[in-house]
Amino acid sequence: MKITILGAAGGIGQALSLLLKNQLSSGSELSLYDISSSIIGIAADLNHIPTNVKVFGFFGKNIKHALKESNIVIISAGVSRKPGMKRADLFYINSNIISKLIENIINICPNTLICIITNPINTTVVIAAEILKKAGVYDKKKLLGITTLDIIRSNTFVSELKNKNAKEIEVLVIGGHSETTILPLLSHLEKIHLTDEEIIILTKRIQNAGTEIVKAKSGNGSATLSMGYAAARLCLSVIRGMQGEKNIIECVYTEGDRKYARFFAQPVMFGKNGIEKYLQIGNLSSFEKKILKNMLKTLKSDIKLGEEFIKNYLI
Ligand SMILES: NC(=O)c1ccc[n+]([C@@H]2O[C@H](COP(=O)([O-])OP(=O)(O)OC[C@H]3O[C@@H](n4cnc5c(N)ncnc54)[C@H](O)[C@@H]3O)[C@@H](O)[C@H]2O)c1
Repeated sequence: MKITILGAAGGIGQALSLLLKNQLSSGSELSLYDISSSIIGIAADLNHIPTNVKVFGFFGKNIKHALKESNIVIISAGVSRKPGMKRADLFYINSNIISKLIENIINICPNTLICIITNPINTTVVIAAEILKKAGVYDKKKLLGITTLDIIRSNTFVSELKNKNAKEIEVLVIGGHSETTILPLLSHLEKIHLTDEEIIILTKRIQNAGTEIVKAKSGNGSATLSMGYAAARLCLSVIRGMQGEKNIIECVYTEGDRKYARFFAQPVMFGKNGIEKYLQIGNLSSFEKKILKNMLKTLKSDIKLGEEFIKNYLI
């Protein structure tokens, strides 16, 4: 299995690389790419860790060597938020970065499974889909936006509030990956009772958790370590599905059944070729129904932005 990370010299890329170096199965290959030449040293540094996962670093024009024969490509290349910025403010610069990287994927490993971390996810995943479609290689079951950070944050915040073991809590988070489009389905939790007031407070905190970190880092970026953890969890789930393990379920931002919007974060089951099944979200409480209804305008306009961006794009 070959896993490639694009943007691997960044805060998320380095944390993710460290976790994967330690958690991928023996014999796997970890390919790290960045525009920064420091990636060579990062790969060398990781290779001093005694695991049977070989790490290779590439920069600049050597992207083709990084991508060649990749089974999974994770993209965290781009700029991150500064205080006062919303994820949407990253749109122009990150959309151009994503577009160029997807073009490289199309040329070198068009059948790979692509996981996007780069924000604004609500839009960057759409851009990737449209470029892949233009090139005639789009497979919606092999493209997803990683929203796992919203899930691990939800699990942590619920466990803290209720004094429970976070490992035993799994909150489904649906919708998109920006402020009001993030909808944790707290009413689905079994065995944990949350009052209406607790649900309102938790939902707000989960929706604004990214901004909490951006403010706390005072101008030095957004979540990197927790995001690295989240991406590693998602990547390992994708691999387990590809290797034939059953019932591997995660929430991801993907082009599903279009029930609510063309792209939507929802639970999916992974299989040998990526997403095998789109799962239902189940019944919503009246509070959750209201948030879902209110988010759709923003989510659909984020999706449209991606579709418009690509209209005049030539590949
Ligand atoms: N999905 C999520 O939940 C989530 C959470 C946090 C951050 N993010 C996003 O992830 C992205 C990366 O965040 P970070 O904190 O690691 O940022 P960072 O600035 O630390 O790292 C970004 C890396 O991308 C590299 N890069 C830039 N252009 C590139 C290109 N064309 N090809 C290859 N590499 C390139 C940079 O050299 C840098 O090493 C940002 O867009 C951020 O908003 C997403």
